[in-house]
Amino acid sequence: MTDTNKVASAAMLKQAHTHMPMGVADSYRYWGEDNTVFLKSMKGCTITDCDDQTFVDFRLAYGPIILGYRDSRVDQAVIDAITNVGTISGFSTGLDSEVVSLVKKLCPNIEKMRFANSGTEAVIGAVRVARGFTKRNKIVVVEGGFHGLYDEMMWKSDVDNWDVATQAAPTIIPFGAGIPESTREHQVSVPLNDITALNAVFAEHGDDIAAILIEPIMGNCGSIASTQEYMQTLRDICDSNGSLLIMDEVKTGFRVAKGGVQELYGIHADLTTYAKAIGNGYPVAAFGGRADVMDMINFGEGGVTHGGTYTANMIALSAAKATLTVLSETDALETINKVGAQIQQLLSRVFTKFGIEHRFAGPDSMFGIHFGNEVPQNYRDWKKTNSDLYVEFAHNLIKNGVMLEPDSREPWFICEAHKNVDLAWLEQIAEQSMAEAVKKS
Ligand SMILES: Cc1ncc(COP(=O)(O)O)c(C=O)c1O
Repeated sequence: MTDTNKVASAAMLKQAHTHMPMGVADSYRYWGEDNTVFLKSMKGCTITDCDDQTFVDFRLAYGPIILGYRDSRVDQAVIDAITNVGTISGFSTGLDSEVVSLVKKLCPNIEKMRFANSGTEAVIGAVRVARGFTKRNKIVVVEGGFHGLYDEMMWKSDVDNWDVATQAAPTIIPFGAGIPESTREHQVSVPLNDITALNAVFAEHGDDIAAILIEPIMGNCGSIASTQEYMQTLRDICDSNGSLLIMDEVKTGFRVAKGGVQELYGIHADLTTYAKAIGNGYPVAAFGGRADVMDMINFGEGGVTHGGTYTANMIALSAAKATLTVLSETDALETINKVGAQIQQLLSRVFTKFGIEHRFAGPDSMFGIHFGNEVPQNYRDWKKTNSDLYVEFAHNLIKNGVMLEPDSREPWFICEAHKNVDLAWLEQIAEQSMAEAVKKS
């Protein structure tokens, strides 16, 4: 960013420090005293900050924007709903089932569904249902996966401080203070694509494993993806062990394909979580799957409880209905994939020009960039990539008007509105940004 020129942003941060810890509403929005972004507007695939710099945005709010900011097809549906119907009542409306029907048309893995307000809440619901159904406790998670900010999922493999030369597994640490050690009791972590490690975990804990919870394409780890063989092994081991397979499609759902990763792999989960692209930026989430599993949600003995004041509110569901209708009836996702592929090609030309070994991971709508000569197969492999060069490149892109998360663990997100980006301009900016990065390294 052109930090010294960010007079308005600096003033806003200074004021915000008096109101909020770190001066921001979400800790990950704090990018330091000189680089914390304050926006004044968003439209299409662009965002404009308070100092009037406009960026082409590949961060897209960490993924929800699938059509574009302020998409009138979605916004008008929300305006109509809140003007003519209302927001919440604490009762049901016909819209609840309408949205589930739309999801079921796109995702044959869904037989029954419930709504939530965030990806975190959707994961909480799915995990609770899995435990209720299996009457078991343990949840197997994958190193580098992310499932939201609630205590049980706020343990991570400390790959940042892990020595690639060692055979030992990375230490598992909490995201910070305030997370009781007891919340880790029922969680077991395995590296992605390591069938031996998976078998070992099932051999040791199998009779208490309620579920495997996985992002098959790790949207929080450079889009590093499960192999087809690994996904099939997960499906088989869950079936033979009486455990459930939960796919966390909070980032991939309605983005990587109409039917999400499950369409790409042709392998279905027992339970799936959705959020982000389902509502093009409106706060809506859901979890669902097998009817016999979801029907554990009931008031009978042994039934699972689920709900919440804002669940299935009209703002969320009208946005979901409009977004899902556009995604199912238009070629928006094909456009997104085409633009994503073109952007990878131009970036590849730039990296090659500078002699930088690089690999892309994940699908065109949500791709990770890794500076190295192999596509990482798991989070530990990511540590072998040149992420310092990536950070430098990313900061230069931001300075030059291209917004992204300056961390190669966050993929580049594409929305339909990116079809309007001038690719020649982007290539020139990428070249300039890499030239500056290489000079500094
Ligand atoms: C895969 C995955 N699961 C869950 C979450 C949590 O979602 P939310 O931030 O909406 O609570 C995220 C957020 O990025 C995510 O990427």
